[in-house]
Amino acid sequence: MRILSIATSPFDDQKPGTSGLRKKVKRFQAANYLENFVQSIFNTLQGFAGETLVIGGDGRYYNAEAIQTVAKMAIANGFGRLLIGQNGLLSTPAASAVIRKHGAFGGIILSASHNPGGPDADFGIKYNNDSGGPAPEKLTAAIYAETQKLGEYKIADLPDIDLSNLGDHQFGDTTVEIIDPVADYRQLMRSLFDFEAISGLFASGFTMRFDGMNAITGPYAISILEDKLVAPAGTVMRGEPQPDFGKHHPDPNPTHAAELMAAMMGDDAPDLGAASDGDGDRNMIVGKGIYVTPSDSLAVIAANAHLVPGYAQGLQGIARSMPTSTAADKVAQALGIPLFETPTGWKFFGNLLDAGKASVCGEESFGTGSDHIREKDGLWAVLMWLNIMAVRGQSVAEIMTDHWQKYGRNYYSRHDYEAVDKAAAETLMNELRDQLPSLAGLAVNGMPIFAADDFAYDDPVDGSTSKHQGLRILLEDGSRIVLRMSGTGTEGATIRLYLERYEPDPDKHNLDTQTVLKPLIELADELAGISRHTGRTAPDVIT
Ligand code: G1P
Ligand code: ZN
Repeated sequence: MRILSIATSPFDDQKPGTSGLRKKVKRFQAANYLENFVQSIFNTLQGFAGETLVIGGDGRYYNAEAIQTVAKMAIANGFGRLLIGQNGLLSTPAASAVIRKHGAFGGIILSASHNPGGPDADFGIKYNNDSGGPAPEKLTAAIYAETQKLGEYKIADLPDIDLSNLGDHQFGDTTVEIIDPVADYRQLMRSLFDFEAISGLFASGFTMRFDGMNAITGPYAISILEDKLVAPAGTVMRGEPQPDFGKHHPDPNPTHAAELMAAMMGDDAPDLGAASDGDGDRNMIVGKGIYVTPSDSLAVIAANAHLVPGYAQGLQGIARSMPTSTAADKVAQALGIPLFETPTGWKFFGNLLDAGKASVCGEESFGTGSDHIREKDGLWAVLMWLNIMAVRGQSVAEIMTDHWQKYGRNYYSRHDYEAVDKAAAETLMNELRDQLPSLAGLAVNGMPIFAADDFAYDDPVDGSTSKHQGLRILLEDGSRIVLRMSGTGTEGATIRLYLERYEPDPDKHNLDTQTVLKPLIELADELAGISRHTGRTAPDVIT
């Protein structure tokens, strides 16, 4: 086997965002584009000779080609063992589980998560470290620096590797093992949950619909829900992964999982509805006639975790991203455990999980997870709900009503303005940032502002500081308005507006969310000038 050294020159747009490097497929298809980024990762890492690297992707368009490139480059760069998901597939949570279980040095995950797939859509790549979590900012910054000076990459001169047969294949000093993408993950789930109680629930006539969105979670959900837990066949809809996700947007939210939502709001709705995204780390939970916001789902999961075998010992702490509602804070307070508020992006939870400070974490963007791995985990959240429902013997609506009665309800919504002109979005953010110091103490539209700042995070584990993580306007009644710019979009800029209002009175827990938040929506536009800067009168997506 020959190792080729190929001369190349830097690209100026390889800075990783919220979750790895995400670009249009066409960009990744540019000569040397993928190779440069992969070599920059390898050049930045130290001491991996002979070690194990996990490789897998969400199966989207270009996954098959990119897996070959990554594998041949890993061989050329001296990894001792590659664990590759059969046919190049691994969900993001499964990749994290495999890295941890096999003591791998790290992993390369090919995914653009919930972004659409296809020749004109998105692709992505990210590196996860030995804890199974996304590379911390220090490492992604070093990788980016390397991309800017790279002069050559190494690749093994091999025909394409057959990824369809399980087992070991030898290439020079490197063993390539093709693994079952589901097995390790399923075993981990079995160790956390009471599978007997959940299958008992299904045996008693409990019904569920899981929307795989033609993405990677389909095979995992079929294997765990239908095969192991004996949920009725057909429980999983759109369970067949497709490179273009059936031309849909594989994002589990009420807008993109419209068919599931309609079924859950209909007369014959199943007892539980759930969906997962392109790479399997996101989840949406819906009950019969009731949608559960991800922020509430985190709070319910934390409040009931002790009912689930893997968490019977109780939680060390809860972590949530800053824009996520403060519903989980109330639970942490009641449990007498710490609550950590981090910037957006799962990578910020890694240190807290590694240090045993937080056991459960979540983001408003349909991400929930725990210390069982170092990624958010869509199917895990669904199994949490199933296990909790099996123990409590209550419906989603009953659990939510009960939760709000105890802790109060945090009305919450996110408004996304997508593909906005980048310069206009930046002006909007800059103008608002400039106003922040003068807002505290003012009453705008009759609403007294308590504090306003540009969120910065001091990591309590490694002492690092991350600045400019979102503009916050905190009102005296506990309501919050947060604005930030997306770090995962691939077209123009996406502005995210997060709105929250706390309501302690149980008589007011069944109101329409957008109506409750209307004064905050108007205040946000007044202060930030969203329509003035963007020309938009309504958001593209409301979750
Ligand atoms: C979005 C979400 C964020 C999540 C990330 C990756 O990032 O808002 O919570 O961690 O996707 O799934 P954003 O586009 O807002 O930077
Ligand atoms: Zn995802």
